[in-house]
Amino acid sequence: MQIWNTDSTRMIDNMLDISHFPYTHRGTFGIEQETVVPRIKLEQLDETFFGYGYEVKINNVGSAKVMAGGGDDIINLQMTTGFALPFSVLSTMSYETGVEHKLFMTAAPIEEGKSIYTFVIWRNDDVSALVEHDRTIANEVIDFSFAVGLEDQMMLEKLEGQLSLEQGALVDVQADKPSLEWRRRYKELVTS
Ligand SMILES: [Fe+2]
Repeated sequence: MQIWNTDSTRMIDNMLDISHFPYTHRGTFGIEQETVVPRIKLEQLDETFFGYGYEVKINNVGSAKVMAGGGDDIINLQMTTGFALPFSVLSTMSYETGVEHKLFMTAAPIEEGKSIYTFVIWRNDDVSALVEHDRTIANEVIDFSFAVGLEDQMMLEKLEGQLSLEQGALVDVQADKPSLEWRRRYKELVTS
């Protein structure tokens, strides 16, 4: 659990946005030149989460490779990302190695511009296995997840106030479709 000096609405908007990988996550898994966003089809992913599936090319070195269970230095990763109202997002990652990684993230508003960030991870491998010396897969995965989270936090803390919930207030592109749908449903929830 961490406290981030950013609004929960902005955290969800960021968690649902795949186009920020090459910019915000260049220090961990993002590939600078991979800026083309695939077409996104929104759908009900399971009983709880609404979102989209996609394939993304990522840098797979260091801790990222431990997280992937091996593979080349650049890999294609199958992902799904979806939201549950009000402030939860689940991302699933299916690696070619057979490793399945689920990342549940939630934002809890403390006040406008201040939130609690929490994440939970599930994996289908033995995370107690040693990677090197006294480091386990769990150590690598958790440290890497905090490093990725810090990249988001650094970017988000530069933004002031809430995300606008008004239609047309922001210029929306393909990558914003999931966030736009979250905003529509969230607005409905808080105004009904
Ligand atoms: Fe991010």
